[in-house]
Amino acid sequence: MQTMYEKMETAELDAAIAQLEAEVAEVKAKGLALDMARGKPSPAQVDISRPMLDILSSTADLTDEGVDCSNYGCFEGIPSARRLAGEFLGVPAEQTIVLGSSSLNIMQSVLIHYWEKGVPGHTPWSKLDHVKFLCPAPGYDRHFGITQDLGIENVPVRMTETGPDMDEVERLVAADDSIKGMFCVPKYSNPTGITYSEETVRRLATMKAAPDFRIVWDNAYAVHDLTDEPDVLANVFDFAREAGTEDRILAVASTSKITFPGAGIAFFGSSPANVAEVASTLKVGLISADKLNQLRHARFLPTLEAVRAHMRKHAEFLRPRFACVEEKLEQGLAGTGCGSWSHPNGGYFVSFDGPEGTAKRVGALCAEMGVKLTPAGATWPGGHDPYDSNIRIAPTYPSVEELSAALDVLVLAVKLASAEVARAARA
Ligand SMILES: Cc1ncc(COP(=O)(O)O)c(C=O)c1O
Repeated sequence: MQTMYEKMETAELDAAIAQLEAEVAEVKAKGLALDMARGKPSPAQVDISRPMLDILSSTADLTDEGVDCSNYGCFEGIPSARRLAGEFLGVPAEQTIVLGSSSLNIMQSVLIHYWEKGVPGHTPWSKLDHVKFLCPAPGYDRHFGITQDLGIENVPVRMTETGPDMDEVERLVAADDSIKGMFCVPKYSNPTGITYSEETVRRLATMKAAPDFRIVWDNAYAVHDLTDEPDVLANVFDFAREAGTEDRILAVASTSKITFPGAGIAFFGSSPANVAEVASTLKVGLISADKLNQLRHARFLPTLEAVRAHMRKHAEFLRPRFACVEEKLEQGLAGTGCGSWSHPNGGYFVSFDGPEGTAKRVGALCAEMGVKLTPAGATWPGGHDPYDSNIRIAPTYPSVEELSAALDVLVLAVKLASAEVARAARA
């Protein structure tokens, strides 16, 4: 689609650019210092979990179904936390491990394990000439960082409205045994907000792939609904069990954006064989995780229903922020052809796409005007967005007032960058 600037006569375009540059100069003079880069809850939002901290005291019962949480033991996690993990991940509690506070840490540990020792019965990935991972993009930069750090080649695959482009995924994976895995954020994907369709979930579980191919099924936003009509994600394990591919699925989640980011509890779930095998390696370096934190969480959020009730409180903080993004982008950019954006039903982000070749310039202009964005390119492996168009908007941390001001700046930057691209195309 043509932008409004591409449609202008050259003199009109020059005048529009001069006007936008003057507006940019005015904003710069205000000395703003706003941040739309951080995908984390606001301080007031975090506070809703504070009552959990009162649950354990020096006189509290520190046992969970007979397990003493105040001492070593019970490596796989306390029974009530494992039950919750099972509900989150869609597997029986026995097929889970509840670990420390970070799901990212679990993903890294498991991938390093396969890198060093291989999937049982297969060559360690580190001993192979070349190992590749599929990275749906736009996606989560920290996923890409884990594989990049190991020397694995990250191969981008386009995200669509129903999840990763499955024709492309199936074609690549069937033809190339060096593709050993793939990252998926199946619900309210970071940053597009897409929930994978049932068909996508089924195809991922049943497609032809290398026998030691693994899917990191990162359900980070499993319960992070914004509306009363949340997206529904099919249970990948149901398809995988039927297809005999249960070992393929490495599911993770955490309570980072439910209770305290960095101080929650994190879950791993997979086939019985994978859970036993992964546990046997992790046990070498960990006697037991913080079971007092598990106990606190399990008492605060004993069931998935309790989690959902807690998430409704979170949504009250998030809804006005997401509404503000929608309203500002609509007001500022609708009909200009200068951008499209996601309208997620949950999760933590809005994904914005400007005209090709503008995202880096938008980031730089916003920085000049005192607004920090997630670096352009971050949503693609290696920080390289081939279209230079995607910007991840993280609306959760700032106040609505700050967000509103930051979005005015973003809209202005998008307009100027789009106008500049239109002029450059004529040069
Ligand atoms: C998709 C996704 N996975 C994992 C994480 C980090 O989770 P944790 O705090 O459990 O390591 C995030 C945080 O933003 C995320 O967006």
